[in-house]
Amino acid sequence: MSNRFEKLPVKIYEDNARASSAVAARIADLIRRRSAEGKKAVLGLATGHTPINVYRELIRLHKNEGLDFSNVITFNLDEYWPIQPDAFQSYHRWMNENFFGHVNIPKGEINIPAGTVGPDKVESFCRQYEENIRRCGGIDFQILGIGRTGHIGFNEPGSGRESRTRLVYLDAVTRKDAAGDFFGEENVPAQAISMGVGSILEGREIALLAFGEHKAPIVQRAIEGEISSSVAATFLQSHPACTFYLDEAAAACLARMATPWLLGSCVWDELLERKAVIWLSQKLSRPILKLTDEDYAENGLAELIHNRRGCYQLNIDAFKRLMNTITGWPGGKEKPKKVLILSPHPDDDVICMAGTMSRFVKQGHEVHVAYMVSGFLSVFDYDVDRFADFVRQFNDIFGLTPKQTRSIEEHIEKFLRNKSPGDIDSPEVQAVKILIRRTEAVAAAKFCGVSEANCHFLNMPFYNTGKVQKLPIVRQDVHAVEKILDEVKPDIIFAAGDMSDPHGTHRMCLAAAMQALEQYNKSAARKPELWLYRGAWQEWPVEQIDMAVPLAPDELSQKRRAIFRHQSQKDTAMFPGPYDNREFWQRAEDRNMASAKLYDTLGLPEYHAIEAFARWPIKRSADSRKQLLS
Ligand code: F6R
Repeated sequence: MSNRFEKLPVKIYEDNARASSAVAARIADLIRRRSAEGKKAVLGLATGHTPINVYRELIRLHKNEGLDFSNVITFNLDEYWPIQPDAFQSYHRWMNENFFGHVNIPKGEINIPAGTVGPDKVESFCRQYEENIRRCGGIDFQILGIGRTGHIGFNEPGSGRESRTRLVYLDAVTRKDAAGDFFGEENVPAQAISMGVGSILEGREIALLAFGEHKAPIVQRAIEGEISSSVAATFLQSHPACTFYLDEAAAACLARMATPWLLGSCVWDELLERKAVIWLSQKLSRPILKLTDEDYAENGLAELIHNRRGCYQLNIDAFKRLMNTITGWPGGKEKPKKVLILSPHPDDDVICMAGTMSRFVKQGHEVHVAYMVSGFLSVFDYDVDRFADFVRQFNDIFGLTPKQTRSIEEHIEKFLRNKSPGDIDSPEVQAVKILIRRTEAVAAAKFCGVSEANCHFLNMPFYNTGKVQKLPIVRQDVHAVEKILDEVKPDIIFAAGDMSDPHGTHRMCLAAAMQALEQYNKSAARKPELWLYRGAWQEWPVEQIDMAVPLAPDELSQKRRAIFRHQSQKDTAMFPGPYDNREFWQRAEDRNMASAKLYDTLGLPEYHAIEAFARWPIKRSADSRKQLLS
């Protein structure tokens, strides 16, 4: 155990890919060892957004390095109930598409709870499932994800230490989390068949993976909290060989990352000092400049004031640094600049920085927005119906191609009538959805003063699966960004720096942007500055903020109106994300006002709202860097 707070082994990696490769390497090693002994390797498998890179890496090892799966037996943790195996959201389908279809596990050795078993047969099915695991000698290596309720498998709060494979009811939070995959909470099954906590704990080795800030609080509870049936993952603390594999974001709430000074001596640098000062100021609800040596000493920060010979200069340094982040002139006053905003979806630009965007325009800079993916997946079918009707009537009024218009409208009507939730849209329906989002994006950008000619639609191919799950980033995706960089030749770039958007689209857009920028910078006459804004899901921690652009009350209402231009996302969004019932404009306002409030409580000027940005490369303290494995 790395410290007194953590009750089981934890490995923290810089990112998901590195953590997933480490888990895949352990599995590959097990398979090879077992094969050399002439034995079978029994794997317990999970689905969901988390383990996908483990499967991708195992597939790579199979294809490129000859990893042979012919001695492998698998048991999946769970499956929705009832569900057909070919349904889009079925775990049978998911496993085939993401793993089984690409490796050579013998078909008869694959076991997944059946979503089709009748109600009177479920109990005996579950008993048999357990029996089959036992007959194979038990699970050698179990992969787990963790739900926001702390579930492992679908062992929701209340699941006991001894629970076995059974039919369970999904928690309301879990159903909300799954709503995006099912295109609406109402389509999520109420029940699932899941291996129990007791069944999972019998695995010889367990790897729990968790990625993204949205997992950070529950990960902290599972690792540092007391064992309790209200968080099933805490039972893993009693397992002799369970390790948590985390990315930095999911580890953020662990004491060693959030408050390392409570654990002992730290590697103090400017960033960690600032983090500690802000933490103390918030903890005591006292402005930075009023913090005393006693406050520091009484709250585990004696080492810091010892190093700095008292808190006087420390407070002033932290205060000044925060003051210097505040600017009403984000592009500077010297000369007009070219600004390129990379907006993953068509509304992220205004949700995250409509105020700053408008200010750039007003201050005479040339602003371009590049919308990276089309975002058509988030348009409701009824809007397509309405627009098709509008176009037909419009064309009727003006006598424009009525025959062709009518035949497209008829196709759309028929297609939508027969569509089940999650079905991939026909090309015509997709085209209308793309158009809806495009015209909304242009309307919102124009509202902020950006001309239509400066709105660019990249339509990156990785997004265009028609399904929630996206393809990996390929050369064409990167090329789309390179092209716009070459065209605009920006002085300043803004990009979304999210790590926890629900489907990973923001993360993928950022990865593509970074690759493109690396290429572009090789030959660019001058390298652009890169600033990151956070998406709709969270804000930068204060110590990470490098630029804070204050918004007056009127500017914030203008921002709201810009967001309203995205009519198809208003009232209810298709993918609001599982963690928040508020609309996007409400989140944006709450977040911008909360940032202003925070600055105020730290003793800085009191503004109405603040849009916050961090400058790339994002700084990481030496102390947190030392926690990361490569
Ligand atoms: C999936 C499973 C679940 C998930 C958990 C996290 O087979 O049993 O416990 O691991 O809900 O899901 P993601 O990875 O989608 O966040």
